[in-house]
Amino acid sequence: MTVLLTRRIPSAALSKLQAAHDVEIYDGPSPISEDELKRRIVGKQALICLLTEKISAEVIATSDLRIIANIAVGYENIDVAAARARGIVVTNTPDVLTEAVAEFTWALILAAVRRLTEGERLLRRGAWQGWTLDFMLGSGLQGKQLGIVGTGRIGRAVAAKAPAFGMRVAFAKRGQPSSPQSEKVAVPLSMDELLVSSDVISLHVPGGQATRHMIDKKSLARMKRSAILVNTSRGSVVDEEALAWALRERLIAAAALDVYEREPAVHPPLLEMENVILAPHLGSATHETRRAMASLAVENVLAVLSGQPPKTPVS
Ligand code: GLV
Repeated sequence: MTVLLTRRIPSAALSKLQAAHDVEIYDGPSPISEDELKRRIVGKQALICLLTEKISAEVIATSDLRIIANIAVGYENIDVAAARARGIVVTNTPDVLTEAVAEFTWALILAAVRRLTEGERLLRRGAWQGWTLDFMLGSGLQGKQLGIVGTGRIGRAVAAKAPAFGMRVAFAKRGQPSSPQSEKVAVPLSMDELLVSSDVISLHVPGGQATRHMIDKKSLARMKRSAILVNTSRGSVVDEEALAWALRERLIAAAALDVYEREPAVHPPLLEMENVILAPHLGSATHETRRAMASLAVENVLAVLSGQPPKTPVS
């Protein structure tokens, strides 16, 4: 059988795939265009793709695929309903990236509260005058509240590290908490209560229509003026224009973003602001995690093409 890869993947995973099937790799500029994808997908039984590629109903309709394996935990880039209607399995890569994204979320939280990137920019432009008592003060985390929006695996992993910094955790009640354990360390609050009372608000919901602009002008206006908003989930969750307004008006103290509404574009006013940290979608970007993500996608393909159930089908 033949598998189409929209990008080269780490070699251990690639070799395992090549040992079992023919493999075609798209090596052009990323991401592959929809037309190119439609052309190449013909006659392929499996597709391994990235979150930057839109796998539309139209692409799916032209294919004989048995599986679409996304190398990402999010899968709003794939028309899952259209795939399901044609009996195509869709898989993602949960679990293997949870800790990497949680660690990166903490990197952003710490960098934002201590103004790390702002300080580095100042130093690099030669503007540092030396140590003074009141220079570039940030805020401490001890005794503060971390508000987690989205209590899936990543939200819970971020929450689990909060006690190390002396923070208490609150999570937004959207349905049931995911595990009884999360209730022991975290207080369930309504979304509004969480917004008004948290010092750091960290977003961990999936992308897609249901969460689009969940953080808008109204919710930003409810936050503390000292609050810090962190987004390592999906850019669509935050209305970037509203965020730029809130940062400009100092309605919140700072934001730290790893994801954007129109990646790789960033809402231009954000690029001019000192009180926002902008990372280029690095949440899961560790050698170990990317290897594990690629391996999991390959395992899913190997399973489905040999008539076995996939390890991590999307629900
Ligand atoms: C990364 O953003 C992912 O969904 O894996």
